[in-house]
Amino acid sequence: MPRFDVATTSPAEQPADLLVLPAFQGPEAGPGMRELGTSLDADVMSLLEENGFRGKLGEVFTLPTLGRAAPRNVLVVGLGPKEEANADRIRRAAGKAARLASRHRTVSGSLPAAAKGHWQQAVQAFVESLLLGAYRFDRYKVKPIEDEDGQRPRWERVTVLTPPRWDSRAAKQAVRRGEIFAEAAGWARDLVNTPALDATPIFLAREARKMARQVGLQCKVWTKAELEKGGFGGILGVGRGSENSPRLIELRYSGGGRSKPVALTGKGITFDSGGLSIKSAQDMESMKADMAGAATMLATMRAIGKLRSKVNVVAAIPAAENLPGGSAIRPGDVLAHRGGKTSEVLNTDAEGRLVLADALAYLAEQKPRVIVDAATLTGACMIALGDEIWGVMGSDRALIRELIDCGQEAGEPGWELPLWAPYRKQIKSTVADVKNIGNRHGGAITAALFLKEFVGDVPWAHMDIAGTAFAEKAGDYWPKGGTGNPVRTLILFVERQAGRK
Ligand code: BES
Ligand code: MN
Ligand code: ZN
Repeated sequence: MPRFDVATTSPAEQPADLLVLPAFQGPEAGPGMRELGTSLDADVMSLLEENGFRGKLGEVFTLPTLGRAAPRNVLVVGLGPKEEANADRIRRAAGKAARLASRHRTVSGSLPAAAKGHWQQAVQAFVESLLLGAYRFDRYKVKPIEDEDGQRPRWERVTVLTPPRWDSRAAKQAVRRGEIFAEAAGWARDLVNTPALDATPIFLAREARKMARQVGLQCKVWTKAELEKGGFGGILGVGRGSENSPRLIELRYSGGGRSKPVALTGKGITFDSGGLSIKSAQDMESMKADMAGAATMLATMRAIGKLRSKVNVVAAIPAAENLPGGSAIRPGDVLAHRGGKTSEVLNTDAEGRLVLADALAYLAEQKPRVIVDAATLTGACMIALGDEIWGVMGSDRALIRELIDCGQEAGEPGWELPLWAPYRKQIKSTVADVKNIGNRHGGAITAALFLKEFVGDVPWAHMDIAGTAFAEKAGDYWPKGGTGNPVRTLILFVERQAGRK
């Protein structure tokens, strides 16, 4: 990570290899730009006009200053029309700039003075997406990536330039928050991108333990023997077909005095082959990402630990590998979950709900204020909402509302699907309390109805992130692969629980 500073220097006077200068879309011709405050302004404007630069969102133009201003180069990046400016526009613009700015060592970025209202959010968004846009996963490459997609940034120092009337302490704090949010989301991306050969349940547990030590969380990893004693039949059942034995990762952050904790869990299937109900080769290609829910919650805990939020949080994250080994569970098998409820496994590829059932039951025992889970649970949710919107279902309207609001603020949108009670009959089993599949249609809903069986009366929301967790195509501030979505949403959500009983 580069070192970040905040300054109120005029952009033209701040020495840097590159100045990133956001510009609004101009009325007719040319952009409406924040002035550099030098004799250069008129020249820059006419150059931009000459080259047809309008300031449309994500439009970029680079020019050297040839010794006539302190920054050696200026990268002008379009923000779209001023009236439509918001944090998400800044994220998309900064994400685009990040890729182009990566070759420079010292970068300054000027925030538009017109960012009204919550300007701290604009500063945070800028830092966040500069870092997220420059993210690369190259630890498995002998030669680091160096192609049209950019390279690992060489940044040593990034200076955020703000208008002098913005409070500098608040600006520094916003920068710090941007770093923490981006670092957490980047870590989730790393965990998701790490091949399942390496990212086993034990690996996840080790990473969690290391993180807990770094940011001051309590951590307990449940071994296979402890899971047996504790009656975690879902996690053990799914893990049976793999040599890599399952774990349950329990983390606690205590910053909220005697208040009831917020409880989190996430699906940690380190590889989903489908088990005996085996997937096609193509459907398996991205299944190292089936632990994205777990990565999301681990990363959220990391950020909350760093932010020192005044809230109590407990996370119980199941990690297992779903393979069809000789001792794998078979269609028709019955598993006994934590707390005693049984499920009939008719399809071993509907495994996420089996591991989450145990974790949800375990968390519900602790009477938390709310439970939130995140899981790459169903292809059906992906079909419904595409790959930029997660789905959310649950037992509590206010909780669902709040998650959607946080998603909006983070630039990670979510949408509610109905937890339609009449479909409950689809998961009735003749031999057990519930079965693990319903009809093909409405698969995201029946999966959520299965989970609901295990949360008791604790207000609960389930986020189906099958679409958003892993990108098949690069976006504005994420490359192909793990996206880290919805880590930033959940950090905001947990922070907001501070001070509540
Ligand atoms: N991990 C998958 C869901 C998934 C699919 C996530 C594609 C991301 C991309 C999950 O375990 C699964 O296999 N779900 C099945 C459930 C079915 C067997 C009831 C599905 O969605 O097809
Ligand atoms: Mn599956
Ligand atoms: Zn799965």
